Amino acid sequence: MKEIQIRQAVIEDLEQVAEVEARCFPAAEAADEKSLKERLEAFPGSFLVAECEGRIAGFINGAATNERTIADEMFEDVSLHDPRGAYQSIFGLDVDEDFRHQGLAGRLMKALIEKAESEGRKGLILTCKEHLIGFYEQFGYCSMGVSKSVHGGAVWYDMILEFSR
Ligand SMILES: CC(C)(COP(=O)(O)OP(=O)(O)OC[C@H]1O[C@@H](n2cnc3c(N)ncnc32)[C@H](O)[C@@H]1OP(=O)(O)O)[C@@H](O)C(=O)NCCC(=O)NCCS
Repeated sequence: MKEIQIRQAVIEDLEQVAEVEARCFPAAEAADEKSLKERLEAFPGSFLVAECEGRIAGFINGAATNERTIADEMFEDVSLHDPRGAYQSIFGLDVDEDFRHQGLAGRLMKALIEKAESEGRKGLILTCKEHLIGFYEQFGYCSMGVSKSVHGGAVWYDMILEFSR
């Protein structure tokens, strides 16, 4: 199997990252290139990519915040990123079709969880669709029920992982 490296994203990854996002999400839910660029510039430390021989196979990204749930405006307004925020949020977890079912999303998730813990955060938060609740539970996330989010017109669940100290 080809080696896949997890590393912090750089601006040169932007085009490929935007292409993967467009393939992974319906148009109403996908972040566009402008939005992904703003995120990359605002919080490069919590924008990780999985690279396989020059190809971006997947990525994970999100702002930090003191809120325990993600509000929709956070997706578009990077000024809401608080570098000292207690929670690392996850705006997106994408793995391109060719690279799925190999544990890559799990590797990206674990890398961001480890980073958040090493930075002294209280935990991580995300929103997901109902069918992925079980996927996130394996990393220690718990569902807080249906989210207020109306992102892309879908129904989302708020999930939280809190570090026990
Ligand atoms: C969701 C996604 C990131 C998963 O990527 P992946 O690299 O294939 O995931 P992994 O291989 O790390 O983990 C998948 C494994 O998790 C487990 N799993 C998946 N869904 C699960 C669930 N609902 N409950 C319990 N376990 C689950 C299974 O063991 C699964 O293995 P399988 O794919 O061989 O059946 C990818 O399908 C994707 O990018 N989808 C489109 C974008 C998206 O929906 N992202 C999530 C946004 S909230």
